[in-house]
Amino acid sequence: MKELQETVAYIRAQVSSDATAAIILGSGLGNLSNVIKAEKEIPYKDIPHFPVSTVEGHKGRLIYGELGGKKVWVMAGRFHFYEGYTAQQVAFPVRVLRLLGVQTLLLSNAAGGVNVHFKIGDLMIINDHISMFTVNPLLGKNEDQLGTRFPDMSEPYSKDLIAKVQKIAKQHDIELKQGVYTGVTGPTFETRAEYKLIHILGGDAVGMSTVQETIAAVHCGMQVFAMSVITDLGIREEENTITHEEVLQAAKDAEPKLTLLFTELVKAL
Ligand code: HPA
Repeated sequence: MKELQETVAYIRAQVSSDATAAIILGSGLGNLSNVIKAEKEIPYKDIPHFPVSTVEGHKGRLIYGELGGKKVWVMAGRFHFYEGYTAQQVAFPVRVLRLLGVQTLLLSNAAGGVNVHFKIGDLMIINDHISMFTVNPLLGKNEDQLGTRFPDMSEPYSKDLIAKVQKIAKQHDIELKQGVYTGVTGPTFETRAEYKLIHILGGDAVGMSTVQETIAAVHCGMQVFAMSVITDLGIREEENTITHEEVLQAAKDAEPKLTLLFTELVKAL
């Protein structure tokens, strides 16, 4: 709590007003940070106790600005467990955002398609997740000031926000898939046997982010909306291999639709 309070005080000294929502952008999906009218940009490296993002495609800035007529925080670049941060470190910025007064968290990510009906470039609303292949960020002593010891996870992704996005997508003729996101540690992509396992377990997509942030957000009482861009199809093709480059490219191609959906969602909050 002490670290959180110091971080919040540092940010509050630079931006005193509140925001309607916070957005965390996934790999290759950073363009939204160029769309927002930025009023303040704080490099992660300047923020006390913030880890520094190391992955290509991440810029590592906390941005305060206007999107869809509302004030938002945007994390351009996120912290992944596979970079060597603890699950608690991954969750840290989410808690900071909550203490800055944010009640709504929007997340995007690049993910592997596991559902056999998915194709590269699809957008998937995350309606539930499987977190057991990663480390839970709430392990350890509970911070009662943030939330309860045993948080309910019956609706980690807000049905209300999902309905709003579905309406927006319909209006703009954007096709959306919906499904279960399976969180894994990475950094290896899955083997064929692992893709098959995730498929059997009920996962529709698989990725290396999001679930820890969502758990931390739900714990401290935020409503969450999350969307995956399907950047590869691990399960389908026998000869299929996956590279980080093709993941980034597929994410980039799908990005305009994602930017529109997030902008309109923020407008509708
Ligand atoms: N697996 C895990 N993470 C990913 C993938 C994948 O296939 N694609 C993009 N992120």
